[in-house]
Amino acid sequence: MPSSKHIVVANWKMNKLPSQAKPLVAEILMSYLKKNSDLIVCPPYTHLANISANKIISGFYLGAQNMSEFESGAHTGEISADMLLDLGCTHVIIGHSERRMMSEKENIIIPQKISLALQKGLKVIYCCGENLESRESKQEETFVSNQLKNDLYHLENLDKIIIAYEPIWAIGTGKTATSDQAEAMHAFIRQTLSEKYSNSDQVKILYGGSVKASNASEFAKKENINGVLVGGASLIPVDFIEIIEAFNS
Ligand code: PGA
Repeated sequence: MPSSKHIVVANWKMNKLPSQAKPLVAEILMSYLKKNSDLIVCPPYTHLANISANKIISGFYLGAQNMSEFESGAHTGEISADMLLDLGCTHVIIGHSERRMMSEKENIIIPQKISLALQKGLKVIYCCGENLESRESKQEETFVSNQLKNDLYHLENLDKIIIAYEPIWAIGTGKTATSDQAEAMHAFIRQTLSEKYSNSDQVKILYGGSVKASNASEFAKKENINGVLVGGASLIPVDFIEIIEAFNS
């Protein structure tokens, strides 16, 4: 099993204004005292500079929600890994289903993005998870193992990878996987990775999809759930603090 320290990630998606970012993070950090978990906040790109001063707080990290597969150059509207590093990011989310659904190309370039992020020194929060059709036809394991093979198997090791299992049918829908369903998939992911990587038992696997203050402690009890990736509830400080607390004990 990985070290017992949990990871709680906030994915703000396209919410809040740059000027609101600093007070929101300050409110969260005021209650983030016990430090038995790492906290990674991933705001929109435009908010990163306003929050980066907080990164001196131990256990608190700044992440981005995506990055370009290219190093630099004529790629209008894109953000490079170096830009994220310069703004104080230590982590980047890659493969979020909301991005995968935007274009077929996104799925194809995920391995390239992961390699570039790692080469530049960013840690990757890699998202995988099945759609409703696969879950209903009991094909969820095949769906997820195909994603792992396509996206990660070019890597020699998973040292700088955090995996977030996010069933698409549970994201932003209010419909959460049960903690047993999530635990079963996390164990499956760990087992699948062990076929290729000798230290797969050290990889942190987070659950994401409608995590709320009311259900976080159920996930926190499970052996293979090493933290959570939180969207909507991470925007409400009182709720998010409760989620952090659930993973702090
Ligand atoms: P949600 O989003 O918590 O709002 O379901 C999770 C995610 O998409 O990362």
